[in-house]
Amino acid sequence: MNPQATSPEMNKVVIGHLETLLADSYALMAQTHLAHWNVEGANFFGLHTAFQTQYEELFTAIDEIAERIRALGGYAPGGLAMLDTMSEIGGMERKLDANGYLTHLAEYHRVLVDAAIKGRDAAGEAGDAETEDLFIARLQVHEKTLWMLRSAAM
Ligand SMILES: [Fe+2]
Repeated sequence: MNPQATSPEMNKVVIGHLETLLADSYALMAQTHLAHWNVEGANFFGLHTAFQTQYEELFTAIDEIAERIRALGGYAPGGLAMLDTMSEIGGMERKLDANGYLTHLAEYHRVLVDAAIKGRDAAGEAGDAETEDLFIARLQVHEKTLWMLRSAAM
């Protein structure tokens, strides 16, 4: 158990929020990759590149989230099938117009914003400042990306 946590129960609650964040981030990474591959249109180059930046950022973040779970004494969930059962993020059609990808991805970042807020508050309650900091950092990324995706959607 993380020595910072106020109790083993609170530590478990925090790990649960990290697991949700991990599963949702993995699902979002996969959907962003799909958009990177299939987007078409006048803004192809900009969107193709932006989606790559986003899924690469998510890949790095997922590793940090999983390793935080280990640092707290938990075991990280992994594998597509296991993560799929733990995520609220659904799939999207293979072929959409650019606006369709932007709108769906914005919706998924909104799910991550909510998950990061819940995790931040739980970590704060548990007295676990480092995990709280991780959730705040993820919240900032998802809020910023949400703004960018909404600004690009027509
Ligand atoms: Fe690529």
